Amino acid sequence: MTRTLCVLLALPLFAILAAFAARADPLDAAMGKALFERQWIPAPSSTNGTDGLGPLFVARSCTGCHARGDGAHIVTRADGSADIAGAVVRFGNAAGETDPYYGLELQTNAVPGLMPEGDVRFLPNFKYNLSGPPITNGFHAEARLAPPLFGKAAFDDVPDEEILARAVSNARDGGPIKGRANVTPSGIGRYGWKAAHTSLKEQVAHAFAFDIGMSSPEFPLPYGDCTRLEAACLALPNGESPSFENRELSSAMIGVVASYLQTLHARSTNEASALFASTGCADCHVPKLKTRDGGQIPAFTDLLLHDMGPLLDDGVGEPGVRSSEWRTAPLINGHLTPGKRRYLHDGTAATVEEAVERHYGEAEGSRMRFEALTADDKKRLADYVNGL
Ligand code: HEC
Ligand code: HEC
Repeated sequence: MTRTLCVLLALPLFAILAAFAARADPLDAAMGKALFERQWIPAPSSTNGTDGLGPLFVARSCTGCHARGDGAHIVTRADGSADIAGAVVRFGNAAGETDPYYGLELQTNAVPGLMPEGDVRFLPNFKYNLSGPPITNGFHAEARLAPPLFGKAAFDDVPDEEILARAVSNARDGGPIKGRANVTPSGIGRYGWKAAHTSLKEQVAHAFAFDIGMSSPEFPLPYGDCTRLEAACLALPNGESPSFENRELSSAMIGVVASYLQTLHARSTNEASALFASTGCADCHVPKLKTRDGGQIPAFTDLLLHDMGPLLDDGVGEPGVRSSEWRTAPLINGHLTPGKRRYLHDGTAATVEEAVERHYGEAEGSRMRFEALTADDKKRLADYVNGL
């Protein structure tokens, strides 16, 4: 396996893709892993197939934010203080528009000769600096953590009916929980904190474009998140090439990265928790979802959007999704142990208990049941969630 990867990494990318395009999944996944870990470099470079980074970017590779397939995690900065690695600053307003100057995300890195858009610290408090003009009136800049990727690829196999059926039964129950699907122009959203992306491939291509600055047929944006107003960025060369469908990455390359994500399985927890159900957590964090082939996958989400109330309303909406609405976070952990990670979209919770303390809106009843638990039961429930 390791030897295969070394051989793969030594070959020009297009040769590998041509050789393996028609082969079975394990090779796609190995190839995808190499692309997931690749440190991309600015265009132009002599090694066709590794360039196209930026010009503005947040990280050079997927592993920059999803090391080992995990999500955001605690790191120690050079001065000894703690911070979160693998988080981004997201710009937006209540209407779901992105900042006219900075675009979607604060690009904290840039190729040589270009200024990054600014820098950020997430701990002890969220604080960012901009190198350009202030953000436009009515817009906000807010933190978004990279979620762990284990078990996520399988959401692609959940049929729309499975998602919609829960929205219908929420409505029929007439209770406070009113989950709704994110119906986007390309289908029912499954990926991201607001379920904005319909398919795994779309999410992968989006990450390449906006986090790393690399274009693909899905997101033909050679300048990534540079806006019309960022002229210095648009004046730089890009890495688009006829070898990759005239983009920086071909659809096949996006596809193999998605294949790699399919190998990051959720831990299979068959053990159900009565406490998790009786506290109402399972009403949204649905333990298992059905797949198209009649199977079941660990999910701990209903893939629906819920209004979570004022504490989780950061003023940044997305098209068709209010700023207080979030996809039920799938409670599927990677390798990170409690203390090495943070919870919620903005990382404001250091523990499961703190995350639940911020559940208002549709989750108010469940939070109150949680608060009424004995200290022992609270700990049992938190341990259960951390073990998923
Ligand atoms: C700069 C940090 C960063 C980089 C680099 C990055 N991601 Fe992410 N990733 C995020 C954040 C933040 C989110 C959540 C975005 C949102 O919903 O607003 C996310 C979400 C995802 C999701 C959806 C997870 C879910 O729970 O629905 C997938 C899949 C994913 N990223 C894959 C990738 C791949 C593949 C790459 C490399 C091409 C990549 N990411 C690069 C930060 C990053
Ligand atoms: C009404 C639906 C709903 C109910 C009920 C609910 N949650 Fe959540 N939960 C969510 C949503 C939506 C999020 C994402 C919120 C955010 O990040 O802003 C979330 C996030 C979380 C997170 C953070 C996950 C992460 O990846 O950072 C934890 C932990 C959590 N919930 C645990 C629980 C527990 C334990 C219960 C029961 C006491 C519970 N939730 C009840 C909808 C719900």
